[in-house]
Amino acid sequence: MATASGSPSCRKHRTASSSFSLAAILLLISIMYCCPAGFVVAARERSAAAGGDSVMKERFEKWAAEHGRTYEDSLEKARRFEVFKSNAQFVDSFNAAGGKKSPRLTTNKFADLTNEEFAYAYGYAPVSTNYPTMRNGTGFMYGNVSLSDVPSSINWIDKGAVTNVKDQGKDCASCWAFSAAAAVEGIHEIRTHNLVSVSAQQLMDCSTGANNHGCNRGDMDEAFRYITGNGGIASEADYAYEKQQGTCRASGKQAAASIRGFEYVPPNNETALLLAVAHQPVSVSLDGGGSVFQLFHAGVFGAGRAETCTTDLNHAVTAVGYGTDEHGTKYWLMKNSWGSDWAEGGYIKIVRDDAASTTGRCGLAMQASYPVA
Ligand SMILES: *[C@@H]1O[C@H](CO)[C@@H](O)[C@H](O)[C@H]1NC(C)=O
Ligand SMILES: *[C@@H]1O[C@H](CO)[C@@H](O)[C@H](O)[C@H]1NC(C)=O
Ligand SMILES: *[C@@H]1O[C@H](CO)[C@@H](O)[C@H](O)[C@H]1NC(C)=O
Repeated sequence: MATASGSPSCRKHRTASSSFSLAAILLLISIMYCCPAGFVVAARERSAAAGGDSVMKERFEKWAAEHGRTYEDSLEKARRFEVFKSNAQFVDSFNAAGGKKSPRLTTNKFADLTNEEFAYAYGYAPVSTNYPTMRNGTGFMYGNVSLSDVPSSINWIDKGAVTNVKDQGKDCASCWAFSAAAAVEGIHEIRTHNLVSVSAQQLMDCSTGANNHGCNRGDMDEAFRYITGNGGIASEADYAYEKQQGTCRASGKQAAASIRGFEYVPPNNETALLLAVAHQPVSVSLDGGGSVFQLFHAGVFGAGRAETCTTDLNHAVTAVGYGTDEHGTKYWLMKNSWGSDWAEGGYIKIVRDDAASTTGRCGLAMQASYPVA
């Protein structure tokens, strides 16, 4: 079992420079809030000159009603309308330019957030520059499995090894805990035929080593180490999610699942990742901070069009399957933790065997790991 450490992501705590840029973003937002009168008037004049925003306004009202969104005052509403409008225009032009294979975007629940606000709220942070780009895939237990011995597609949801989609919530970058929890739930079900949601909150409260910081990012590897050392992890029912870090209350709680350790998938190798996912759900990190991710609706991310993400690992999900869609596009099936009302029931398909990169699309093959049970 591997012992290497270090990580990026919604995973990594904010660096000085990222909190500086965060401060700059917040300052910018507050400046916009502090002097919105001129901003709004200017926007109104622009739209009046362009023949009116009435269609877009109607679309915004309908969206706000559908999502139960209310705003503090008319100035905030005007500001949110401008953000919505810009996102809606992005969605429309992306969808119009897409071919048959291309995925579709939509004005989803994140449509009144700028990409910067979205990134702050849902886990994005610039990756530390000293992140080791290669991790040694020591003790890869699936390394000797032949490709011809694994199925051409697999879906761990259908196989009953995946719990319901969770929602990490606004302003809590705890994706790392949900990614690790889903991987543990998967191998536990595969070994015991008992599907149980395990406690992401316990990981946030109790797995607090060098890299793990509750709502302020963390690392799945360290979470697996904690669960191994602790002799297991409680169920979600026994130790429920609170969307903020608290004191560790694991003592006296019954272990709902346990693991013996974890291993890394050899990096930058989608074949190795496939051999692992063929056997169990796998924790994956990737760039989930872009507008396409934010506003994703359906289809395969990255199919039939140019690069729409980077390899800055800022988010963590769980690979729960792979396959080939009706257009012949090979994909990974990823479980996210942004609620079941994002993308396809909370899941996203991402291009697999990416010809354009060795890292996997959005860096998905750069740092994958899985618990051993
Ligand atoms: C990977 O292994 C090589 C050679 O054994 C070593 O030099 C390197 O430091 C290792 N990298 C990491 C991230 O552990
Ligand atoms: C894979 O096969 C090689 C050669 O047969 C063997 O030395 C090695 O221990 C095997 N690795 C695993 C993880 O089973
Ligand atoms: C990728 O991983 C597979 C399975 O472990 C291995 O057989 C293959 O040699 C690896 N490819 C590269 C380029 O390292």
